[in-house]
Amino acid sequence: MNQAIQEQPGTKVADHSAYSPGLEGVIAGESALCQVDEGAAGLRYRGYAIGDLAAWSSFEEVAYLLLMGRLPTGSELEEFSTWLIGNRMLPDSVQRFVERLRPGLHPMDVLRTGVSLLGLNDPDAQDGSHEANLRKSMRLLSQIPLLIAGSYRIMTGKFPRKPDQTRGFARHLLHLVAGQKDGETGAAMAEAMNVSLILYAEHEFNASTFAARVTASTLADLHGAITAAVATLKGPLHGGANEAVASMLVEIGSPERAEAWVREALLNKRRIMGFGHRVLRQGDARSAIIQRHAERLSQLCGDSRWYEMASTIHRIMREEKGLHPNLDFYTAVAYLLMGIPRELSTPLFVCSRITGWCAHVMEQQDHNRLIRPRALYRGPAPRAYEPLDRRT
Ligand SMILES: CC(C)(COP(=O)(O)OP(=O)(O)OC[C@H]1O[C@@H](n2cnc3c(N)ncnc32)[C@H](O)[C@@H]1OP(=O)(O)O)[C@@H](O)C(=O)NCCC(=O)NCCS
Repeated sequence: MNQAIQEQPGTKVADHSAYSPGLEGVIAGESALCQVDEGAAGLRYRGYAIGDLAAWSSFEEVAYLLLMGRLPTGSELEEFSTWLIGNRMLPDSVQRFVERLRPGLHPMDVLRTGVSLLGLNDPDAQDGSHEANLRKSMRLLSQIPLLIAGSYRIMTGKFPRKPDQTRGFARHLLHLVAGQKDGETGAAMAEAMNVSLILYAEHEFNASTFAARVTASTLADLHGAITAAVATLKGPLHGGANEAVASMLVEIGSPERAEAWVREALLNKRRIMGFGHRVLRQGDARSAIIQRHAERLSQLCGDSRWYEMASTIHRIMREEKGLHPNLDFYTAVAYLLMGIPRELSTPLFVCSRITGWCAHVMEQQDHNRLIRPRALYRGPAPRAYEPLDRRT
């Protein structure tokens, strides 16, 4: 054992041999929400293969599954969807916050503050019961798209689009952030958005979910836990990667430049955003699903440059590094084709992941044990204190 590590009398002895930098491979809790399955399914939400959910479900069904624990019946889904539509509104003080935003702020910073403000205004703010947390979760699901889209449009000098009570979640989100296109292309975009929301909804103990669970484990309130999660998701090693991929594609500019660009980036030891994963070392099953939608959209939109650039980068990363694209890579292509502003890529991730986060907060608090691991001390050995007047 490292000489510098000394347990205080009465302190439970830590297992220092279990130390794993970045908690890699560590089982940090139990969950019934999501199974990362290196087999054919790739990933399961409450037992259902992600491919089946993406092929057959609406995002609302998946949200219900994560929050309530099972797939809804037809009437339950209708009731749930109607409730979500009926709550498409922001409290006055949050609306005023949105209207006073200055240009140039990052939407994820606005969202982090906005979620915290929604917590102050939630009618169940003082109630931490499971039922109240469920109502708070459902309100956030309805409010976050309005917060994201409204604030972005104000910051870019436009009027927010009005909520529309006739559209389901994915179509409504597209309407708010990009405007809805007509015809086959519009339908394909709505379908791709629905699928991307399903794929982003839940992913076990990723960094932002873990941040939410740590916060929830102190019995802090749900909005506090979600605020921590939003702050954590922003980083480019996590949710911020989808925006970083879009920025990379825009920087590359044309398919002819992609190969030289990525080879030079690798020579300079740069990380290529949208590749690699802490857990999914053999590839991310979600990537192939969204890739198909990105390819279809590029054909329907008559704009293949983003998809071609992405295919070239994909090939070179496989050949040179043996790394696979993660969900963020082709999602960025799909979002660019939908006309979604780059800075809204990570906030859109939140519109979906809010379901997984909230389900984890409730699961944590329903079976709570404070999350409080130990650190491996690497600091100075014990030493005598020198009073200020004797220090040189
Ligand atoms: C996701 C990520 C943080 C996982 O990191 P990790 O588990 O800590 O993996 P490591 O940092 O140990 O990487 C292992 C090796 O692959 C390389 N690598 C990992 N991801 C890479 C990437 N995107 N581009 C280039 N090289 C990469 C590392 O440089 C390292 O190589 P080395 O052993 O020669 O030093 C990492 O893959 C990454 O930064 N990806 C880009 C950001 C991203 O897409 N994030 C979204 C994740 S869903």
